[in-house]
Amino acid sequence: MNRRSNKGRSRPFSDLVPMLAALVTAVLVIVVGLFFLGSGSDAEARAILEREFEGAYPSAPTPTGNIVELDVTAAPTVIEVVDGLDTEVWAFNGVVPGQEHRITLGDTLRMTFRNELPVETTVHWHGVRVPNSMDGVPGITQPAIKPGESFTYEFTPPDAGTFFYHSHVNSTEQVERGLYGTLVVEDVEPVGFSQDVIMVVDDWSLTPTGAIDTDFNNPTDVQHNGRWGSVITVNGDTDAQLTARPGERIRLRFVNASVARPYALRFVDPVAQVIAIDGMYVREPRPADATVISPGGRVDVDITMSDTPGTFEIVEDFTTKVVRLVTVVVEGDLVDTPDFAAPRNSGIPEWTEAVDVDVDIEYKLALTGGLWTINGDSFPNFEAEQIEPDAFTKVRFTNNSTRLHPMHLHGQFFQILERNGEPVNDGAFRDSVLLFRDDVVDVGLVALDSGTWAMHCHILEHAAGGMITFLEVAPRDPVEAAP
Ligand code: C2O
Ligand code: CU
Repeated sequence: MNRRSNKGRSRPFSDLVPMLAALVTAVLVIVVGLFFLGSGSDAEARAILEREFEGAYPSAPTPTGNIVELDVTAAPTVIEVVDGLDTEVWAFNGVVPGQEHRITLGDTLRMTFRNELPVETTVHWHGVRVPNSMDGVPGITQPAIKPGESFTYEFTPPDAGTFFYHSHVNSTEQVERGLYGTLVVEDVEPVGFSQDVIMVVDDWSLTPTGAIDTDFNNPTDVQHNGRWGSVITVNGDTDAQLTARPGERIRLRFVNASVARPYALRFVDPVAQVIAIDGMYVREPRPADATVISPGGRVDVDITMSDTPGTFEIVEDFTTKVVRLVTVVVEGDLVDTPDFAAPRNSGIPEWTEAVDVDVDIEYKLALTGGLWTINGDSFPNFEAEQIEPDAFTKVRFTNNSTRLHPMHLHGQFFQILERNGEPVNDGAFRDSVLLFRDDVVDVGLVALDSGTWAMHCHILEHAAGGMITFLEVAPRDPVEAAP
């Protein structure tokens, strides 16, 4: 009895053990199953995204063997920014902006660069997918070039488009003093625009006597939106003009050479369409009005002059103030408007699955104790993130601040996928994305270029205040790397 009653008492308990075990097993099976199902669909989505990416842009350059040799010297010189005033600048070959170098896709650029400045410098090829050793980042991709020394930059750009080169040493000072220029890589068979004109926009902080204000990196600029100048120039001219004939169809290649200030383009009269962003053709041309170019950014515009003579202005109104950039004078006899479909890149993937993919890297941006931080680190302290080449990678930028951050990644192009939870149909590959206050922006990329690449805010005062990190792309599989 006792035994039985003992048994009787213990029976429900001993039944509970296998029941609990079964329950735990079932829950585990469901959880593990969901996990694998989840990661399975994540992996599937990534595979689709990578397939869609194929052919979006060349995986490697195709050199034709044609070498374009350039000799460029950086040195102090004097120019006239404001009429009648001398401004001492630091310049590439004596001019600000530095010369516009035009090459054709497939050409190899070989630039023998001499530093005749009183300080160290380098040249960075902003937006160009150069070999990592040609990227011009001091201490990472090359030692800074000392005064009196030379360095040869040699590479074959894999992409045609509008690019920007600038000093990457103490750039808040060196770019402000004038060390920047443009590189245009022409298509092998360019479409026949009536004119193809570069428009380099810069803002200058000058003293009343015309000298460059040397108060670089002052804490107010660093902690706000960087250094904004009061004198705006286009191609070095405070009164830039473009002369065109009625009916002309013109490619305008805007480059923002300012260290901090974005511009919002306004084309008052004629039809203007954006055909390229950050050098790369977009999937579909889009209206150019209100296009924002953040520092270091490029926007190529396809614009047709009206059939009648007249004058109009291209202005910018990023702030409430409207600033004239260029006066366009349309005069002379009417010409036939060149008739061709605007160039575009229909290979840009839609990446609609991308919203379902997990974030691989999140960069949280904040101002902490007067320093700009990325995930709590302020350069030169950083933890380089690592990614695989040829794999879809989703990067989230979270702006935990009230300031602007044009986040720029060297050596790669990405598309915007989502802004503040809203899917974005970007249709464009870019090297920078502008974050406004409290923005959360997801971008997607497939890294094709191996190496250690800088990732920083292109408000250069923010970079100087610590907002720099690095992204390491592992070496590519030689089979994948084959063109
Ligand atoms: Cu135009 Cu690292 O920058
Ligand atoms: Cu910033």
